[in-house]
Amino acid sequence: MGEKGKVCVTGAGGYVASWLVKLPLSKGYSVHGTVRDPQSGKNAHLMKLEKASENLKLFKADLLDSNSLTAAITGCDGVFHVACPVPSGSVPTPEARIPHYGTFRTYCVRLLLLVPYIFNDHTFIPHDQTSSLSSHQVEVVQPAVKGTLNVLEACSEANVKRVVYVSSVAAVLMNPDWPKGQVKDESCWSDKEYCKRTNNWYCFSKTEAESEAIEFAKTRGLDVVSVCPALVTGPMLQSTANSSSLVLIKLLKEGYEELENRLRNIVDVRDVAEALLLAYEKPEAKGRYICTAHTIRSQDLVEILRRLYPNYNYAKKLRNIVDVRDVAEALLLAYEKPEAKGRYICTAHTIRSQDLVEILRRLYPNYNYAKKFTEVNGGEELSSEKLQKPGWSYRPLQETLVDSVESYRQAGIVE
Ligand SMILES: NC(=O)c1ccc[n+]([C@@H]2O[C@H](COP(=O)([O-])OP(=O)(O)OC[C@H]3O[C@@H](n4cnc5c(N)ncnc54)[C@H](OP(=O)(O)O)[C@@H]3O)[C@@H](O)[C@H]2O)c1
Repeated sequence: MGEKGKVCVTGAGGYVASWLVKLPLSKGYSVHGTVRDPQSGKNAHLMKLEKASENLKLFKADLLDSNSLTAAITGCDGVFHVACPVPSGSVPTPEARIPHYGTFRTYCVRLLLLVPYIFNDHTFIPHDQTSSLSSHQVEVVQPAVKGTLNVLEACSEANVKRVVYVSSVAAVLMNPDWPKGQVKDESCWSDKEYCKRTNNWYCFSKTEAESEAIEFAKTRGLDVVSVCPALVTGPMLQSTANSSSLVLIKLLKEGYEELENRLRNIVDVRDVAEALLLAYEKPEAKGRYICTAHTIRSQDLVEILRRLYPNYNYAKKLRNIVDVRDVAEALLLAYEKPEAKGRYICTAHTIRSQDLVEILRRLYPNYNYAKKFTEVNGGEELSSEKLQKPGWSYRPLQETLVDSVESYRQAGIVE
């Protein structure tokens, strides 16, 4: 057994969990990792981690199978409950269900960008009515909520000393009644009814799971601390892209015609792992912690990426433009030249709207330029002040972005 004791990480092969397995292993813990399919190639990276051969043991477990969880958790001092379905952009999302999102195309773009915050599905139905559940309810809400309770039940039976539950800012942000202009902190909870009304089923599932976890902790006397990460970016240890990594990957590859210039809160996956371990190790840790590092608009994110990696296929809207005086010249020429015949395309420059705006802004900085990026309401600043107090810090955004892109290149996801 590792000199620091034994901890269990659920969903060990996932993006966040893989970094979390790596960190305590490197610090001398023994780790039990739960995976749904220990033989699958998508979990192969785990046994290659440093000290894994001595101190990592994988258990086959599903969140909806209590016995499998008990086997992995028994004997552990601490449990990090990370596993949860995180929807990807491939989830079908009929436009009719999202009236406030504009066109289906715009919505698809938004879904990919907001993947960790939005999950559209049908109405939540309690667990015992599984016969009438849609496949998405079974796949997302049930594992998140019932799965968390199963993990906590197993932790309680095994006398685990502390559980660190990985929640999300999805359980913080969806609160329309929060006073305008006030930075959202740990006291802000997403409104479950609002999540349901707006079909934000991922937000609903994270809010419901976290509040159930806190209630369980109170009634059963279990020490539960929750950490709510913002959009997690940074290098991947696993070989296939998870939902939040797709956000950057799509920015590099898709060449979107148009992007919503949304304010995003992002944090490096390695800093999330540090925050989770800190929440486990600090005896005084209590309640919930928002885990975020940088607040940035999509447009600024694209600009940083473009500066670092100019050759990727970034969002663009190409415009062909021509000076009115040149059009007049063209018209007169077409009249005067005897050989003129048929039709003539009359254009001069092909330029991205954004570059056009940038040139104008350089020349005349004080005008109120139209934005190439669609401005949207929503998206707000968050603070991790509470988490920084016990010693958490985060790396610079540029380091996160460079390491992310390099890891996508290494995985052959981008060239
Ligand atoms: N990434 C973000 O931006 C972000 C932000 C805030 C919070 N979070 C939270 O962080 C956690 C990890 O997210 P991630 O981004 O690392 O996602 P991920 O890479 O998709 O990992 C999710 C993990 O959960 C496991 N899982 C899903 N359903 C399960 C079930 N029924 N039984 C057992 N395991 C199951 C998956 O196992 P399989 O490999 O077998 O599918 C996978 O290992 C989640 O709780 C998420 O809500 C993530």
